[in-house]
Amino acid sequence: MTLPVVEGVRYVAPLREGGSLPAIVDASDGHTYVVKFRGAGQGARALVAEVIVAELAKVAGLPVPAPAIVHLADGFGKGEPDPEIQDILRGSIGSNFGLRYLPGAFGFDPAVDTDIDPGLAADVLWFDSFVVNVDRTPRNPNILTWRGGHWLIDHGASLYFHHGWRNWRARSQDPFALISDHVLLRLASDPRDADRRLRPRFTRAVLEAAVAAVPESWLTPVDAFDSEEEQREAYVTWLLERLQGDRAWVATATAAWQAGPSRYARRETHRVV
Ligand SMILES: Nc1ncnc2c1ncn2[C@@H]1O[C@H](COP(=O)(O)OP(=O)(O)OP(=O)(O)O)[C@@H](O)[C@H]1O
Ligand SMILES: [Mg+2]
Repeated sequence: MTLPVVEGVRYVAPLREGGSLPAIVDASDGHTYVVKFRGAGQGARALVAEVIVAELAKVAGLPVPAPAIVHLADGFGKGEPDPEIQDILRGSIGSNFGLRYLPGAFGFDPAVDTDIDPGLAADVLWFDSFVVNVDRTPRNPNILTWRGGHWLIDHGASLYFHHGWRNWRARSQDPFALISDHVLLRLASDPRDADRRLRPRFTRAVLEAAVAAVPESWLTPVDAFDSEEEQREAYVTWLLERLQGDRAWVATATAAWQAGPSRYARRETHRVV
């Protein structure tokens, strides 16, 4: 499962609503991508999470815009006048992360977009608990509504154990209490059914392939590991062990679903472009 590698050919426009100042970029394959830059404040680890989680979402059958590694040459976007953008681009020569751009998409609004299939919503709820994704809340759903479907974006805040790696192996069993603030809690069917559907899909081979898709240059040296291979194996081990053991995170997600949302979302419908 290697990701396509494309060359960025044109900086079209910045997406100022994104905290990391992503941008719309035309690429050499004739497609347009929303690119998250390695030189942005969140750093390379956020891109590692983007790649692994987008690949795993595909395995789960969840709708994600097609991901790619977007290579940028020295001098890309040099016509952009904004110094902040220039700083980011200078730090982003080489590999970056892109999701296929969905032109004219709307931000998901849980008060309006109630048509989402409850089984799909349960799958997303389960999946976000699995990969510890804090960024799917009513305030910041990171779901786009486009051509009658719902698309998942922005997985850079998942897998947060990799910021530091302290005690990482034991933490694979951590419950994910923030699931009680998940934007799809009220719209989902039973997450235990999602567990039965999705868990068997994540074999060691599937997890290894997702981790193998991460570009080597993003795996900066980490004290806990002697080599890049060891670091990749640690991601696979964390994911495998999260699917085994007592899995308090499944019980926590189920309890949150049974309790229902604690509050209603503020409406934030907006057009993306
Ligand atoms: N594939 C896409 N197609 C169309 N619009 C997109 C796409 N990806 C992102 N966007 C738009 O860009 C915004 C920012 O993207 P994203 O959430 O990935 O960036 P971010 O910097 O991590 O944002 P934040 O941290 O503020 O949530 C999204 O909220 C959405 O409006
Ligand atoms: Mg976002």
